[in-house]
Amino acid sequence: MINRTRRLRRTENIRRLVRENRLNIDDLIYPLFIEEGENIEDEIISMPGVKRYSLDKLPKELDEIVALKIPAVILFGIPSHKDEIGCETWNDKGIIQKAIRLIKINHPDLYVITDVCFCEYTSHGHCGVIHDQDVDNDATLINLAKQVISHAKAGADMVAPSCMMDGMIATIREALDQTGFQNIPIMSYAVKYSSAFYGPFRDAADSAPSFGDRRTYQMDPANRDEALREATFDDQEGADILMVKPALSYLDIIRDIKNNFDRPVACYNVSGEYAMIKAAGEKGWIDEERVMMESLLSMKRAGADIIITYFAKDVAKLLLNH
Ligand code: PBG
Repeated sequence: MINRTRRLRRTENIRRLVRENRLNIDDLIYPLFIEEGENIEDEIISMPGVKRYSLDKLPKELDEIVALKIPAVILFGIPSHKDEIGCETWNDKGIIQKAIRLIKINHPDLYVITDVCFCEYTSHGHCGVIHDQDVDNDATLINLAKQVISHAKAGADMVAPSCMMDGMIATIREALDQTGFQNIPIMSYAVKYSSAFYGPFRDAADSAPSFGDRRTYQMDPANRDEALREATFDDQEGADILMVKPALSYLDIIRDIKNNFDRPVACYNVSGEYAMIKAAGEKGWIDEERVMMESLLSMKRAGADIIITYFAKDVAKLLLNH
């Protein structure tokens, strides 16, 4: 007897009935780069279709995002002034704080998440305070607390710390709770690898480290067990959502986190993953649209509940037309 698995693949409608995973607009978070200044709407060369906006140019982009029914954005700031410790990150009149207020005036329901880090704000490009040529973990935690409180006061709906400091979730939870922001959730970049796939982002956000690299705080791409350790600590410290980053080369890790924790799992489809598909698509070497959908679907199949992706608008346009 032959086991005929092909029976359930014979027509599109039966395939629809047995389809296990679907990509939905509801799954997606769109990253926005917001730059201090005026009249800026510059396309990022290595990320076709993605731009850096000044505040005056932001409303039109926001209208489009909302019209496409994308539920959430994550904000990255590009300040005009950098310093040794990134104190612009907790300036109540900083670029992110101003952007949050602007978004909340125009579109109060658009869910606003802030990336909480320092690398775009420090003169050396590292994700915290430098002592002896390395990031000082505990000195950085003190500044992280100031930054999240400032984001929360400006009206952020959720904070997403990405600096990979030990104890960052406990510090941030305590800081938010003590200032009346018990209801603001934390999406932790819990499992963040030291990855070459961040290249285009660092151009976009002007955040490449000026010396060394991030291997003393971001994870070694060779490690899998360590991902469980990182996620365990963030889970215990009270992270509401656990993120894996990057996504495509780390689908095994996404599944591990999904299977081992009772928390929503997010993944970050990073700049290099986006750039590769866009570049090959532009050359006509792959079908960009299909590869985009297939790779995002693979993240869902791996176990991601939420996907942060530069493709969010492209996906939304495709799904809305269906
Ligand atoms: C750090 C941060 C990075 C990204 C998001 N947050 C860069 C880094 O760790 O160097 C990368 C995102 C991407 O590549 O799309 N604030």
